Amino acid sequence: MSKVALITGITGQDGSYLAELLISKGYKVHGIVRRVALEDETHRLWRIRNILNDVTLHAGSLESYASLFNIILKIKPNEVYHLAAQSYVGYSFEDEFSTLNININGTHYLLSAVKEFVSSKIRFYFAGSSEMFGKVKESPQKENTPFNPRSSYGISKVTGFYLTKNYREAYNLHASSGLLFNHESPRRGFEFVTRKISNGVARIKKGLQKKIKLGNMKAKRDWGHAKDYVEAMWLMLQQDNPEDYVIGTGKEYSVEDFAKKAFSHVGLNYKDHIILDKNLIRPAEVDALLADYSKAKKNLNWEPKITFDELVANMVDEDLKAQN
Ligand code: GDD
Repeated sequence: MSKVALITGITGQDGSYLAELLISKGYKVHGIVRRVALEDETHRLWRIRNILNDVTLHAGSLESYASLFNIILKIKPNEVYHLAAQSYVGYSFEDEFSTLNININGTHYLLSAVKEFVSSKIRFYFAGSSEMFGKVKESPQKENTPFNPRSSYGISKVTGFYLTKNYREAYNLHASSGLLFNHESPRRGFEFVTRKISNGVARIKKGLQKKIKLGNMKAKRDWGHAKDYVEAMWLMLQQDNPEDYVIGTGKEYSVEDFAKKAFSHVGLNYKDHIILDKNLIRPAEVDALLADYSKAKKNLNWEPKITFDELVANMVDEDLKAQN
């Protein structure tokens, strides 16, 4: 019999890739969406447009325990992937209240609903984040590196991580957290720096725009491709024992490196097109993140396949196509 998976955040970058992966593995895939009519396909559903016939969408909200409980009761999932969140760090400085509320309570409600079905042995994945390491205490970061978050977003993810750990330890849930470092793709939201750059490069190349405004270009991140990372989520739930895993590439590049590579991919010099905008500098910055993913490599046999250069080229090429 096919396994049943439930994905929160199915309309997002990771949710859409994960849904495709699970469909290819024969799962029946369900997703939770807020206030989206199916007629709204061109809007929030654009990332899952090609698989709309292969997934079942349920109206629900992380703000409502009852809606989550009812969906679980109805579909009886074998695996729940909790990806939905207010995921933009920059925005979390403007609206801490919503970020903390949705990310912490949403995770709590979902875990609590899953716990009511503990005898069904549902496996649970929580989308943790390298933002939990924040102003890092050691480099590279691994599973036991102390957390030191720098934003309400980071704090909300630390709390979600501990909620997940506590439900695992106290109620015997098969619950794991992936501490995912930055992961990008042509489906990345436009507010994140990589997509802002790849989209800007494509528009500049096509003569539609002249400059890109950026904030801190010295920030360093460990950037991978989202397609590789959803595979790691699935692998975590296939293990006999639920555990937490760092997922990254083990290579770090600055925002400037990303911009340089993206512009040179289309034969342009980034220095001619970037403007520093001090308003885009965050009140508290995470300067550098670098993953040590050796545990995932050992236990899950997971490794990233797509390189930084391939990632940048993929994003710029897709954005160029979108301008046509
Ligand atoms: N967004 C944005 N826009 N970031 C900029 C800009 C800009 O114009 N200019 C410089 N940056 C810098 C930010 O200050 C940050 O240091 C870095 O670029 C990356 O910013 P984002 O792409 O917004 O991602 P993030 O690292 O803050 O968070 C992402 O990765 C986390 C995992 O570490 C998000 O995907 C989070 O949801 C995720 O948990």
